[in-house]
Amino acid sequence: MKYERLGEQGNFIMENPDLVSGLYFPLANEAGVMSSVSPDLSGDSKMDQNSFLLPPVSCENLHNDRSSRNIWCRINGKELWSLTGRSAWQQAKKFSRYKEPVVLEAGFMHHKITRISEENGLRAEISSVVPATGETVELMKIQIENISSEYKNLQMITAIPMYARSADNIRDHRHVTALLHRIKTTDNGVMVIPTMTFDERGHKRNHRSYGVFGGNETQKPMGYYPVLGDFIGEGGNLETPRALWESCLNVKSANYETGGYEALGGLCFPECRVAPQETITYVVAMGYGKSEEDLMENCCGFLSETAFDRCWEKTKEYWKEKVNISVQTGNSEFNHWMKWVSFQPMLRRIYGCSFLPHHDYGKGGRGWRDLWQDCLALLMMNPEGVRQMLLDNFGGVRFDGTNATIIGSGQGEFIADRNNITRVWMDHGVWPFLTTELYIHQTGDLGILLEEKSYFKDMQASRGEEKDSQWSENEGEALKKISSQIYSGTILEHLLIQNLTSFYDVGEHNHIRIRGADWNDALDLASERGESVAFTTMYASNLEGIANLLIELNKQGVDSFELSEEIFVLLGQSVLIYNDIAKKTEILADYCRKCIHQISGEKVAISGEKLQEDLRGKAAWIYNHIRETEWVTSKEGHGWYNGYYDNSGNKVEGETETGIRMMLTSQVFPLMSQTATDLQVKEIVKSANAYLYRREIGGYRLNTDFHEVKMDLGRMFGFAYGHKENGAVFSHMAVMFGNALYRRNASREGYGALISLFDHCNDFEKSKIYPGIPEYIDANGRGVYHYLTGAASWYLVTVITQMFGIRGYYGNLAFLPQLLNEQFDEEKQASASMEFAGRHLKIRYKNERQLEPDIYQVSKITIDGVPYKPQNQEQMIRREDIISLSEQQLHTIEVTLN
Ligand code: G1P
Repeated sequence: MKYERLGEQGNFIMENPDLVSGLYFPLANEAGVMSSVSPDLSGDSKMDQNSFLLPPVSCENLHNDRSSRNIWCRINGKELWSLTGRSAWQQAKKFSRYKEPVVLEAGFMHHKITRISEENGLRAEISSVVPATGETVELMKIQIENISSEYKNLQMITAIPMYARSADNIRDHRHVTALLHRIKTTDNGVMVIPTMTFDERGHKRNHRSYGVFGGNETQKPMGYYPVLGDFIGEGGNLETPRALWESCLNVKSANYETGGYEALGGLCFPECRVAPQETITYVVAMGYGKSEEDLMENCCGFLSETAFDRCWEKTKEYWKEKVNISVQTGNSEFNHWMKWVSFQPMLRRIYGCSFLPHHDYGKGGRGWRDLWQDCLALLMMNPEGVRQMLLDNFGGVRFDGTNATIIGSGQGEFIADRNNITRVWMDHGVWPFLTTELYIHQTGDLGILLEEKSYFKDMQASRGEEKDSQWSENEGEALKKISSQIYSGTILEHLLIQNLTSFYDVGEHNHIRIRGADWNDALDLASERGESVAFTTMYASNLEGIANLLIELNKQGVDSFELSEEIFVLLGQSVLIYNDIAKKTEILADYCRKCIHQISGEKVAISGEKLQEDLRGKAAWIYNHIRETEWVTSKEGHGWYNGYYDNSGNKVEGETETGIRMMLTSQVFPLMSQTATDLQVKEIVKSANAYLYRREIGGYRLNTDFHEVKMDLGRMFGFAYGHKENGAVFSHMAVMFGNALYRRNASREGYGALISLFDHCNDFEKSKIYPGIPEYIDANGRGVYHYLTGAASWYLVTVITQMFGIRGYYGNLAFLPQLLNEQFDEEKQASASMEFAGRHLKIRYKNERQLEPDIYQVSKITIDGVPYKPQNQEQMIRREDIISLSEQQLHTIEVTLN
């Protein structure tokens, strides 16, 4: 089994996807509609945790539940056929020679399923879409063609359960919340308007209306089944609905009202006499509204084939335009797959981590690190707007260097944790710098560092160790000065605070304490004595990276920085104290004490030079310390970095009695941060190949099998080995491994990490997912948690900025390709189309002599055929020269490698 590509825009076609479990496809829009559809049209639709139109599903419900988008056809008043294959008898025949052929055709935010019943002489097509134009509705166009040689009387009936409430009520208060339902029929559908909502927000008046409507150019439903119980009948269910066996359908008419029951979008259309080869078409709209009127407005304009088709085309066009990046290498399947990878960060922004059937965690929204990493992909595709997003995100930083962890749905909305659960993830301080640095390079906007922003304030204080009892909710969630005004500091100051506080927050081996966990959320049982060496290395490179930005600021004449006076506790210490753990802890405690509730508001200036020297000193100390203490070896002579200390204070990695203990994360960050020496790069690759690489499941696993339920490190050790954070090929880290290797000019090895993931995902027989990258690949090779993963952002950024080496350098466009010779096409070319500085560019590399990246160099650049003369021998195009190109046209930049 495999899907086939259709064209260049990510569309694909596949036969019998209903023979594979766990497949689902996203349909959503930026107005907040989030649906998922499986090949038999199960899956759900919601706008948030508390507003599910269809009953909420996780992956097991996809095959268990009968509550799906059921659509029936009565043939000649007696036979029944489910257009989605969801009748008990069609399912019973699924694995026999009587299986009905099913074909899926899909592309960004549109999905079409065709099913043929030879027995009934019918062919059905159901096209599903959520309009990109912003109406809060999911639409289906349903077509039934008579493929027999006889006339038939056909009658279509929909049976779509309307759950119309919060996911929290799927068990708790399930029945009582049905009592809140007020159900009524209109002349084209069924509406449910619950009177109240019962969920964790308390008992509130409800303001959300739900409805299922249907029709076509000339027809409306002739009647309704608005109550689920009446449709399934005594002893029946949605796959054997009793009502449809009656010779005369007992439907309700328009303007019928009832309440207190589970509702059904049961729309019964008039019977039609359909000639051979004739097709009947209906449109069904399943939508949401803030009021009845709003609901009708969102849904009813679509109830004709013409309106649906217009919306279908517009939606396809919209997402095609939005995914404005593509690559053309010699591997056309890779190029196609990259389209999906590029689209995935958009899905993550809409669905967060919680709203597709393999939901990861939470009730919506995203986590702190996801917020920053999703920006990476945006910087590649739609850099406008990112500046404000970054500024808003910095508003989530606390003055103790930690950050808000409950992130609201609005940009820059951070919420105090009312449950008062303290959780500090030690990696959180790392990501803002990485994203800001990429932003500065892509745009040249160093000035962002000098912009001012407030700090987040809640009861959590001293990096999760204390509570600020003086703080109360009505004070607001922004840090204040003693004068009670809100304090603002520069973005540079925010970055300094995040990285400097971490520098002092060390455990007994003088590495930064892991606290709640680091990137690996499942390393969550070592909060007292655990340390993350892996991420300590990143703080070192961040400190150095900030210093590098200061050099650039200096070139622009900025060499003095005003910082809040409290921060000076963290600066200007003698390097000699860096070995002294007790002293470091004391300094941090002193700083935290000073800013526990409010800060003075006084600012003191420091010169760029002094600041740089301090930052570089700290970075150098970390590099040396880790190089000296954390390199471990096996008896076989392999070497790698230990990345963790557990809650018993022991080194986690190395060779032990139970075997080799090695973690991929512990290698990725020493490589990326330049902590690993050049010689160690090769050693690490050898060890990773020996202990972590499994081609048959997509490449590098997250760790070896520890054969121990390590209660002193994290819940991951409770997971069966080979799954999720315990030893799966976890795409996010496998991709960052590739990224880190490219950064160390290990081009072939970096390519190896990326391409083995692609090869696996692209092999449907093994990965069993539609195109794209899943969160991880399980022990059997199946891709799971498809679509919503930070891996997609990192994959895209790595392909563009490292593999293609097309990246900003303080706003200029640099070319540092690491494409292998085998990646070029038959014409010995490879190109990437993207936006840079607001211009549409196609960058085409020519590798006539078929050289490898360690040999070739950029020898010539042309823009639209005109030779370009780089300044100072550097292989870059100045930003102003790009800006001088016209905005509308696509410009071709040809880069010759020699
Ligand atoms: C998920 C989370 C991410 C976390 C990771 C490892 O990864 O979203 O924040 O760091 O698990 O625990 P993702 O789905 O982004 O691949």
